Amino acid sequence: MNYWSTLQAMQRPSCLALPKTTKDVSIIMTVLTSLRAPFTVKAGGHTAFTGGSNIDDGITIDLVHLNETSVSDDRRTVSVGPGARWVNVSTVLDPMNLAVLGGRDANVGVAGLLLGGGFSFFSSRHGWACDNVRKYEVVLASGKVVYASPLENPDLYKALRGGGGSSFGIVTRFDLEALEQGNLWTNTLIFPSNKYASVAEKFTDLVIKDLDTDLDAHTYFVMINSAAFGGPVALVSFYHSVPPPKDEVPSVFQPFQSLPGAFVNTTLVSNVTTLSKAISNPYGHRRTWSDLSFRLTSAETLNAVIQVWEQANVKMSAAAGKGYFISNLANQPITKSMMTASQKNGGNSLSLNPEDGPLIDAHFSAEWDNPQLDDFMLNTVQEMATSAKEITKREGVTSNFVYMNYAGHWQDPLRDYGEESYKNLQKVSAKYDPEGTLKKLWKDYFRV
Ligand SMILES: Cc1cc2nc3c(=O)[nH]c(=O)nc-3n(C[C@H](O)[C@H](O)[C@H](O)COP(=O)(O)OP(=O)(O)OC[C@H]3O[C@@H](n4cnc5c(N)ncnc54)[C@H](O)[C@@H]3O)c2cc1C
Ligand SMILES: *[C@@H]1O[C@H](CO)[C@@H](O)[C@H](O)[C@H]1NC(C)=O
Ligand SMILES: *[C@@H]1O[C@H](CO)[C@@H](O)[C@H](O)[C@H]1NC(C)=O
Ligand SMILES: *[C@@H]1O[C@H](CO)[C@@H](O)[C@H](O)[C@H]1NC(C)=O
Ligand SMILES: *[C@@H]1O[C@H](CO)[C@@H](O)[C@H](O)[C@H]1NC(C)=O
Repeated sequence: MNYWSTLQAMQRPSCLALPKTTKDVSIIMTVLTSLRAPFTVKAGGHTAFTGGSNIDDGITIDLVHLNETSVSDDRRTVSVGPGARWVNVSTVLDPMNLAVLGGRDANVGVAGLLLGGGFSFFSSRHGWACDNVRKYEVVLASGKVVYASPLENPDLYKALRGGGGSSFGIVTRFDLEALEQGNLWTNTLIFPSNKYASVAEKFTDLVIKDLDTDLDAHTYFVMINSAAFGGPVALVSFYHSVPPPKDEVPSVFQPFQSLPGAFVNTTLVSNVTTLSKAISNPYGHRRTWSDLSFRLTSAETLNAVIQVWEQANVKMSAAAGKGYFISNLANQPITKSMMTASQKNGGNSLSLNPEDGPLIDAHFSAEWDNPQLDDFMLNTVQEMATSAKEITKREGVTSNFVYMNYAGHWQDPLRDYGEESYKNLQKVSAKYDPEGTLKKLWKDYFRV
């Protein structure tokens, strides 16, 4: 079994189930529920925390063999198995000049990303990855196979768009909307940490003023504390799905090019496969993460959130000593256009309102090797998110939204979608799993 985080790889299920077909999944579900056997489901295995998609003394259903990618004859729909990795999908699509809204890291799994939302290179124009699912094939707690689309079981269709899987069933196929797409342009700049305030200022301008004027643009801003860089640095990456003429920079990103001090400045024009391999985060190491979001109205909040990260990093670096340790704070815009695009097909379960935008999703994470640091790292990353949240409250720019796919084990992202969405998810869960079987047996991930 292939887990990204050592905390999951260390777990020991008593039994592994390896379905090859939807029918197998249905049989497995029927057997497990009749035996009242605790289980979990693994797709790409990229959850950071213990129990996210593995289990001790229970059954892990590993969907690794449900990995097919196929394109419809009219090129409009791409069907993918839940156990495929995004690189497996792009390897099929790139040569056809097609793409889907999916993960940006080669090895991340299809199912987890799509069930929680999905930041993609193409999100400005098309919304979250989940907004671009045409249809789901789902095995319910009863073992019955159903479909969910705007026309068939529309309530389940909406719930699966951001509501996770474990309250509803095991998704065995996703039919995704295809985009005509050639190579993308990308540029990454890395600055020493003493420049982060000027990066934050430009990034704030970009997100507030410019990003919504060019729906082909995508960006994120990450603070990284790694021995490889000799301490904290500020990384900003830009993507454009329509490459500019050679040696030019798309105009939305031009303001960054005059920032002095970048010690890395890499530009590449290539396919999704190459770009997703280039940013892929290697396997191994103990991991944790936590998430929050806030309304971006000025660079001050962003700077204050980065200061929380910086201060905690002094403490974390000291605790790790010479041992392996990396910590990140990834700031990702959720633009008004992205939220507007999300309203197609009846909207998703995240229930974000374009009028509240743009938001920044701030994702705190850490990785280390020394088991004695487990509690300290888990607590410190949780504390960073909690302190940053307090700052956003104080400044009146708080948002309740927590992105499920980056949420810590201690968070409750579905409830944070708000009362209306949460109640709806509960209703749909009760309709498709009337006995609450999944709640009892499917362990340890976010659910209603
Ligand atoms: C290195 C890295 C890069 C990332 N990049 C991005 C990114 O670019 N954009 C983004 O939005 N997110 C990104 N993420 C977050 C990612 O979306 C989540 O970690 C996601 O849960 C991973 O999906 P998975 O299938 O690999 O995980 P898993 O751990 O296998 O699954 C996640 C959850 O989904 C459940 N599940 C799995 N399969 C099914 C199914 N078929 N039916 C029902 N439930 C199921 C599991 O039980 C588990 O609870 C990244 C994460 C990492 C570690
Ligand atoms: C899918 O899984 C099968 C069986 O495990 C494997 O042989 C095949 O190479 C996989 N395909 C992809 C695209 O990963
Ligand atoms: C699918 O992706 C995985 C993870 O990157 C890789 O190991 C595997 O070889 C890929 N399968 C195929 C058939 O390309
Ligand atoms: C993607 O681009 C790389 C580099 O240009 C090329 O070698 C590779 O074959 C392409 N991959 C696919 C799947 O088209
Ligand atoms: C990156 O390199 C390009 C081309 O050499 C240059 O024009 C640009 O100013 C550089 N950007 C930064 C931020 O240093």
